[in-house]
Amino acid sequence: MYGTESLAINEQGHLTLGGADIPALASKYGTPLYLMDEGGIRKACRAYLEAGRKHYGENFFPAFAGKAFCIGAMYRILAEEGFGADVVSGGELYTAHRAGFDMRKILYHGNNKTRAELAEGLDYGVGRFVVDNVDEMRALESLCAERNVRAGILLRITPGVEAHTHAYIRTGQIDSKFGMAIETGAADEGVRTALSCPHLDLHGFHCHIGSQILETEPFAAAAEVMTDYIAHVRDTFGTVVPELNVGGGFGIRYTEEDTPKTPDENLAALAAALKAACAGKNLPLPRLMIEPGRSIVAPYGVTVYTVGGVKTIPGYRTYVAVDGGMTDNPRYILYGSKYEFVVPERASEPRTMTATIAGRNCESGDLVGENVSIQPVRPGDLLCTLTTGAYCYAMASNYNRVPRPAVVMIRDGSDRLVVRRETLEDLVRCDIL
Ligand code: LLP
Repeated sequence: MYGTESLAINEQGHLTLGGADIPALASKYGTPLYLMDEGGIRKACRAYLEAGRKHYGENFFPAFAGKAFCIGAMYRILAEEGFGADVVSGGELYTAHRAGFDMRKILYHGNNKTRAELAEGLDYGVGRFVVDNVDEMRALESLCAERNVRAGILLRITPGVEAHTHAYIRTGQIDSKFGMAIETGAADEGVRTALSCPHLDLHGFHCHIGSQILETEPFAAAAEVMTDYIAHVRDTFGTVVPELNVGGGFGIRYTEEDTPKTPDENLAALAAALKAACAGKNLPLPRLMIEPGRSIVAPYGVTVYTVGGVKTIPGYRTYVAVDGGMTDNPRYILYGSKYEFVVPERASEPRTMTATIAGRNCESGDLVGENVSIQPVRPGDLLCTLTTGAYCYAMASNYNRVPRPAVVMIRDGSDRLVVRRETLEDLVRCDIL
C-alpha cells in the first residue's frame, strides 16, 4: 500500500504510520507535522548491517549521513543500532555530541570546514576527518601540532564516476567543488601532503557519486575506480591504505516510477565488485564504509497538513492550499521532486482528484506537487505527503517567519515528540531591538 511498508489502512479507513492513526496524531500535535516511523528506520539500519556482513564480512562500517535528518533522537537510534554517522558541519557535530553519540564513530565531512570546526572535531575526538583538499589538510595538521594529537583522515577523491538515478557516466568528470580529482594529479598531491604531515594518519579514501541512484552498477564502477587508485597509491607511494568509503546515494521509491534496489542487492554488487577488483590488483580487502542517508529515513516519514482553500481555475487547474509548503519541504521548488499524496481520513478511497498542492508561503513557486492524484478534498481535511523522512525537516526554513513543525516518532504504535513545534518566540529569539 502506498509504496512503503510503514504505511497501512486501519478499520476506520485511516492511514496509519508504524501502526499509529495519522488523523489522531494530527489532532494531538496539530499540523503541519512530521511523523517518523522509528521501527522502519531501525529495520533499514539492520538491513544495511546484515547485507554488509553477509556479502563482505565484519570489516564493514555503515554511517548514516546526518544531513538527511539530523536531530538528537536520531543519533540515539543509530547508536542502539550499531551505526556510525557522518556529519558535515559544527552544527551536526554538536547535535550528535549532545545526544551522547560515540565520537569515534563519526566521519567529519565538509568541503570548507572552518578552523574552529576542525578544532572542535579534534577536541571531541572524531573517528575520521574526511579531508577535502590540501589547504584543509594543512590546517588540520597545524591544529594537531598545537595540541600534540594525531588525526585519522580519509581523502575525498573525485573518481570520475557520476551517477544520475538510472544512468551513470564514467567521464573522468573533474569539475566539482568537492574533493581531489585523480585525473589532474590533485589526488596524488593530496596523498603526498598527507604522508608528509607528521600528525595525520592516512587511513584511506572517500568518494560520493550521486543521489537517488536506482541501480547497482554505479557503485560497482566507483569501487573499481577507487581500487585502481588504491593500487596506484601503493605502487607510487609504497602505502597500502586500509579503508575505502564509497559514500551514499542509495535510491528509494518516491513514486511508482522508482524501482530502487534493496540494501542486500546494493551490497551484494558492491562487495562482489570490490572483491574482484582487489583480487585483480593483489590488494587486501579494505574496510568498506558506506554513508546511506535518504534510504534510512525517507520511506519512513510522512508530512501531515491541513487543507485551507481549494481553488479551481476553470480550464486550468485546481489548487489545494496547505498550511505548510516550501518552508517544511523545499524539495519541489528546488528539484521538482515527485511525491505521492493521500487524504489520511479516506485513505482507502480512490484518488480521483487531480490537484496542484500549493504551500502557504508568498512565492508562486511554493508548491509541493503539481497535477498529483489525491482523494477529493474539502477545506479542513488533512493531506499527507508520503516519503518525506529525508531532506525535509533537515532543509526546512523560517521563510516568511513560519515556525518549523514538530517531529513525532512512532514506535510500535505509540508516539513521542522528538522535536517540538517552534513558537513565535523562537522566531524572534535572535532579534535585537
Ligand atoms: N555522503 C556524502 C558525502 C554525501 O554528500 C551525501 C549526500 C550522502 C553521503 C548521503 O546521500 P543519500 O544516501 O542521502 O543520497 N538535498 C538533496 C540531497 C543532497 C545530498 C547531498 N549529499 C535532496 O533533497 O535530494
